[in-house]
Amino acid sequence: MVSEQMTSGRIPQTFINDLVSRADIVDIIGARIPLKKTGRNYWARCPFHNEKTPSFSVNSDKQFYQCFGCGVHGTVISFLMDYDHLEFPEAVEELARGLGLSVPREAGSAKATGSRRDLPGWLEEAARYYQRMLAEHPEAETARAYLTRRGLNAAAIARFRIGYAPSGWDNLLVALGGESAREPLLEAGMLTKKEDTDRMYDRFRGRIMFPIENQRGQIIGFGGRSLNDDPPKYLNSPETPIFHKGRELYGLHQAVEHTRSPECLLVVEGYMDVVALAQYGISYAVATLGTATTTDHLRRLFRITSRVVFCFDGDKAGRTAAWRALEASLPELRDQHDIRFLLLPEGEDPDTLVRGEGLQAFTARIQQATPVIEYLLATLQAQISTNKTDRQAQVLERARPLVAKLSSDIYRALLVRELAELAEISPDKLSTLMQASPTAPKPAPKEPRKGRQGQAHPSPMRTAVGLLLARPELAKLAGDPVRFAGWGIPGASLLAEILTLLQTQPNLKSAAILEHWRGTETERYLVQLAQWTPLVPPEGMAIELQDALERLEQQALEQETARLVEKSHVATLTEAEKVQLRILCTRKSARTTPPPEIG
Ligand code: UTP
Ligand code: MN
Repeated sequence: MVSEQMTSGRIPQTFINDLVSRADIVDIIGARIPLKKTGRNYWARCPFHNEKTPSFSVNSDKQFYQCFGCGVHGTVISFLMDYDHLEFPEAVEELARGLGLSVPREAGSAKATGSRRDLPGWLEEAARYYQRMLAEHPEAETARAYLTRRGLNAAAIARFRIGYAPSGWDNLLVALGGESAREPLLEAGMLTKKEDTDRMYDRFRGRIMFPIENQRGQIIGFGGRSLNDDPPKYLNSPETPIFHKGRELYGLHQAVEHTRSPECLLVVEGYMDVVALAQYGISYAVATLGTATTTDHLRRLFRITSRVVFCFDGDKAGRTAAWRALEASLPELRDQHDIRFLLLPEGEDPDTLVRGEGLQAFTARIQQATPVIEYLLATLQAQISTNKTDRQAQVLERARPLVAKLSSDIYRALLVRELAELAEISPDKLSTLMQASPTAPKPAPKEPRKGRQGQAHPSPMRTAVGLLLARPELAKLAGDPVRFAGWGIPGASLLAEILTLLQTQPNLKSAAILEHWRGTETERYLVQLAQWTPLVPPEGMAIELQDALERLEQQALEQETARLVEKSHVATLTEAEKVQLRILCTRKSARTTPPPEIG
């Protein structure tokens, strides 16, 4: 079943841990950028920012990379995500493919994942129902007349699977099975709850329905157009576990289905624009879903094509949208990419234009769209003063954040050259001025940044976790992690978790520990510690860890003792607590005096 495949269950964490430990980060990164071995690490010019001397280092022991210039860092999975523009599961797939492994998926025993796996299946049913209603429902006459008036032919309606949601409160719910459909339809955003009650009803009523498909053609949401201009004109599915507006593009599936690797993708604003353009022979149009263009959108587009043309209204709102799209694009703009802007005459949208002037004229507009740097400069130029001195300062101030966002050498050079001309100074001078400013990016530090972990005496907890990240195999020496879990010391339960993880999967590399906590607060703490290089040589690390663990144990004993003593002043201790306090005191004194020699 289609739906089974696409949202298939979670990838088991143990598989990811194992994968990250088996992969060789030096191989993977080395296949993409030239690495040079110096000392214990491999070095390169950072692919994520512009630099002349290498400050991007890859550490094979930790399976971790880090740039001392711009601060990017991560595991082989992060690298694939950022460099190859992959989503997390895709990066995992890519890595597994390289190692000849197939990615297992959890069956989804948990309730949440169980129903999540089926959501596209439910939406597929909904789409079929809406399509049937458009064809059959007596009330749909108005809808069909509307579509005809908008000039859509049967092929376009079928290709985009346009349908009709009849008016009424529970048509969809009833059609899809009543009670049993309630949970999944609610989770998929197809029902809404009436405020302060448990009453639910169909979200979409009396609307033309546009199914929103992901890139692989599975339905993840809907847009519904009001027929009688009742607001809102377009009602979209809310964010759900499978639908994220800021990432998806309407029409992308149809575009890629038509041409696997289109030369160009055209980004327009509306559903109707995509459908009308396709009907008139422009099969490569996609639309954002009533949101601004995001960097995620750009990454998705550039995975498919190297040329993106943004097409917006020529009015103020359109120009604002274009500028935001430009800002979101700059970090994703690589040397080989091409971004262009096409602003339409006021009052027109692609739908009306392509109907009015036809395929050739509209294609000509696309071909004449303004290249990104030119568009950027024209926009800046319109905003700055004609007075020469003011102009220099203004160009500097406005252009600096834009230049900083660019990761492409070629585009940066091009932009700086053009800006210099605009400011009437030499490109070199302009570069120097940009560097010199207080807000310019700081020059790359020679040494790793010293955070709190860089202090002379990191806490025993940081030391212990840091050492485990540096040499995960030390976990064997730590004994049963359970004893750490009950301590009231910050970080103790994390320490116990890390030890349990490493003791159950003994071959894990540090990167796998980071992957385990990906996307959590804990990850940030661990990443900091992973960047720390313990001052002791490798052979001293075991002793250092034992020592840190003992200091932790001591700290825990003292805290617990203090707590009980304090309690005994204000309340009577229970019998159990008294016994515990006595044991704690004996253990404390045993620890502060040197351990007896054992023969
Ligand atoms: P437009 O108002 O330009 O609509 O909104 P349109 O596509 O030209 O619609 P028609 O031609 O009158 O049918 C552009 C896009 O903005 C989103 C929709 O994605 C729409 O296609 N939008 C607009 C909403 O999400 N909600 C709204 O109320 C209006
Ligand atoms: Mn329109």
